[in-house]
Amino acid sequence: MKKKEEKKKEEKNVVMENLISLCKRRGFIFQGSEIYGGLAGTWDYGPLGTGLKDNIKNLWLKRFVIDRNDMFKVDATILMNQNVWKASGHVSGFTDPMADGSKFNTMFSTSIGAGKEAMTSYLRPETAQGMFVNFKNIIDSFHPTLPFGMAQIGKAFRNEISPRDFLFRTREFEQMEIEYFVDPRNEQKIIETFDALYSEQMRFLADLGLEKSRIHKIEVPADDRAHYSKRSVDTEFDFPFGQRELLGIAYRTDYDLKAHMDASGVDLSYFDEETKQRFVPHCIEPTFGVDRLVLAVLSQAYGEDSLGGEKRVYLKLSPSVAPVKIAVFPLQKNKEVLVSKAQEIYKMLRKQFEAVLYDDTGSIGKRYRRQDEIGTPYCVTIDFDTVEKDDSVTVRDRDTGEQERVVVKDLISYLENKLED
Ligand code: GAP
Repeated sequence: MKKKEEKKKEEKNVVMENLISLCKRRGFIFQGSEIYGGLAGTWDYGPLGTGLKDNIKNLWLKRFVIDRNDMFKVDATILMNQNVWKASGHVSGFTDPMADGSKFNTMFSTSIGAGKEAMTSYLRPETAQGMFVNFKNIIDSFHPTLPFGMAQIGKAFRNEISPRDFLFRTREFEQMEIEYFVDPRNEQKIIETFDALYSEQMRFLADLGLEKSRIHKIEVPADDRAHYSKRSVDTEFDFPFGQRELLGIAYRTDYDLKAHMDASGVDLSYFDEETKQRFVPHCIEPTFGVDRLVLAVLSQAYGEDSLGGEKRVYLKLSPSVAPVKIAVFPLQKNKEVLVSKAQEIYKMLRKQFEAVLYDDTGSIGKRYRRQDEIGTPYCVTIDFDTVEKDDSVTVRDRDTGEQERVVVKDLISYLENKLED
C-alpha cells in the first residue's frame, strides 16, 4: 500500500518537474535571480508567462470591474504607514508557527527614510488594506450608494517559512482582491451577496477553462478562519501535488473599517440618505492569487501523448488564456511567394486577434510541436495551393491534430468562432 502511495507521489513530482522545465524552456516562467543560484520563493515571468498572466488578470477585470457598475478600481502603494498594519492586526497576529513552538511574523519589515528619521514599515502582505484606507476617498469623491466594491490587482509579500510547489507558495506574489461593502442592517441581503460573489468566482474559474471536477468548495470552520472573518469559503483545486487552496471569500464584517477608525481617529462611517442613518458598512472580500491561478491553468493544461506516431508535450490551454492564439507558417521559408502571402495573412490576423505569432524556422512538424508546447490553439499554414490554386490555408487544431482547408476570406470569422467555443 505504502509503495503504491509513494509511486503516486513520485509521478506527481515528475509532472511538476516536467511542467517547470517546459515553463523555462519555452519562456513562461524562470527561477528568480537564476544566474546567482536563485532566491527561494521567487519566480520571474517571461514573455509567454506574462501573456498568460495578463490574460487571467484581464478576464478578472472584465468580470469583476468592467462589466459591472458598482466597482471602483484602485492601485494603492505596497509601502504603507506602519500604523495600518498595527490597526489591521497584522503586526501582532500575522504569524506562522515555527518548528520550535515560537511564532514568526511573516511580514517583510523594511526601513523607510534615513538616519534618525528612519521608520519601520512592511511590504504589504495583502492588497486589502490599501482599499480599506482609501474607503473615505472613494466615498468623498464618488458618493457611491451601498452596496459597492473596491477592486485592486497588485503585489503582496510574505516571508513564508518554507516556500514550495513552484508558484503555489512564494514570497512575492500577486493578488486580485475585492472589498465589497454592504448595508449591515440587512442580514439576509448579506448572505445573498456573499453567495452571489461566490458564484461569480466560480464563473470566473470557468472563464479560465478550469474544470469543475477539479474545484472544491470548503466551508472554513470557525477555528481555522482568519481573525477578521465571520464566514469563509475557500476554493480548493486539484494541483498535481494535491488538493490545495486556490482562492477564497470572507465576510470581514466591519472589522477593518472599525479598526482603522479607532486607530486613525478618522470617521469611516457611511451616511444612508434614504433612512438618514449613519453606520459602518460591512465587508465581503473575494480574494484571488494570480500566481496560483497561473499554476492551476498550467497544471491542468499540461499533457503528453502521441500524435501521428510521435510523442508530444502540449498545453491544452483555453483560448481565453492562451498567450498565443494563432501561429502562421509559410510552408517553406525560402519561397518568396509563400513568405509574402504568409506575411500578409499574419498581418491581417494580428490586427484582429493581436496574440498571433509568425514562425518560419524548421520543419512544419517541428513548428506544430513548438506551438503545442506553448498551448497555441490554432496554426495556419500557407502552401503552394494557397497561392497558385484556391486561396485557402490549412488550419490545424492543437487538440486533435486535425487539419481543415479554409478560404482566406472566411479565415477571420472561422477563427473567431473556433476561439470562442
Ligand atoms: N486579503 C485576504 C487574504 O490575503 P489569504 O487567504 O491569506 O487572504 C489570498 O490570501 C490568496 O492569496 C490565497 O487564496 C492565495 O491564492 C494567494 N496567496 C496567499 N499566500 C500566497 C503565497 N505565499 N504564494 C502564492 N499565493 C499566495
